[in-house]
Amino acid sequence: MADRSCRLPVLSTKTLLVMKPAAAVHPPQNLAGEALSLLAWHMPDLVAYHHHSDEWWFAPLDDNLPLIRLNRTGLDMLKAMNGHTTVGMLVEQYGTKICGPDGQPGSWHLERWATPNYSLCYFGTDPPGGHRHNAKWDILLQQIREGWSGQKGFEGEEHLEDFHHHELAQSKEDDSHFDLIETTVSHLFREPSEALSGLTYGRLLMRQLRRLGWFSPKPKVLLEIGGGLGYLAQELGKDLLPFEKQGITYLSLDITQPFLTLQVTRAKVGGWQVSGTRANAESLPFADHSIDLVIDNENMADMTPAQLSRKELTSGVGETAQHQEALDWIRRLRLPIEADPPESVIFNLGPIRFVAHRRVTCGLV
Ligand SMILES: C[S@@+](CC[C@H](N)C(=O)[O-])C[C@H]1O[C@@H](n2cnc3c(N)ncnc32)[C@H](O)[C@@H]1O
Repeated sequence: MADRSCRLPVLSTKTLLVMKPAAAVHPPQNLAGEALSLLAWHMPDLVAYHHHSDEWWFAPLDDNLPLIRLNRTGLDMLKAMNGHTTVGMLVEQYGTKICGPDGQPGSWHLERWATPNYSLCYFGTDPPGGHRHNAKWDILLQQIREGWSGQKGFEGEEHLEDFHHHELAQSKEDDSHFDLIETTVSHLFREPSEALSGLTYGRLLMRQLRRLGWFSPKPKVLLEIGGGLGYLAQELGKDLLPFEKQGITYLSLDITQPFLTLQVTRAKVGGWQVSGTRANAESLPFADHSIDLVIDNENMADMTPAQLSRKELTSGVGETAQHQEALDWIRRLRLPIEADPPESVIFNLGPIRFVAHRRVTCGLV
């Protein structure tokens, strides 16, 4: 029988190197005195979700904060942060105006948006950029990371299991968890959007998969990892005609039972012949060569990280079995270690375990 292990594309759109424990909370800024003469820039490449005719959503960098919902006035204020407007001008023009459906005035937003938790804008004397493109945005992101690792210590290695088994397992069967906490692009675009030429994220993805030739010949077994509320499965299916789905088995695999149940239900709505498996994607419970296409959408950043100390990195000896596994991977993959490594680094062990699996090693996108 032909070895099919080399035609196993894995699609992953989220490749952050760290998972997201709670960030240190930065208090709102006091916008008085010299702060008023600083110039304001909004974050480049902000993604807005146009929810209603007069409502736009923006995601703060800190996932634990609710979405910022803005009306036209709030949007105008954000757009006015073009590097030519001072904070004082913004306070004067928008400070008392209501900027969104939550009723907060412009001053409430101005006091928060430039803090690392929000990182929607930057207040300063020089444009974000400097000697390195976008350097100041990097500084904001760096502060967030320091906040994550500095405040309560690094939570990643144990926290992941708890988060998915306990916190998410309590989720109700509605969209609020993904609307407010784990906001993903596929979730925000679960309904047709002008920005996607009238398509949903899932339908657009299916068109891309076909364009890439991954449906000719069509996969017999398609595995989706960590499908959240199941909208992707539903929408992928809707973009295929019934005969095109014939003969394909859709496997949904998730660590969180309530999500898995929804994934199976929505995959059925999308017309798939589906079966659900509760498991950890870092150790796939399938026979070799039994999967033809793996879809992992905005999920890898959730997998297990390992925080390695400088001593471990330089000696190659891990203090725990998990750390040793990470160090072994670094050696096997010949990842370069700088001469003077930092005090500690976070190695994304879970995604390496996942993609290193024999069934998913080839065709990584
Ligand atoms: C960030 S959400 C992404 C949801 C969905 N793919 C989307 O794009 O909206 C992460 C999903 O992966 C699941 N998950 C996280 N870690 C996992 C793991 N190690 N194994 C299996 N599922 C996992 C979670 O339960 C959740 O459904």
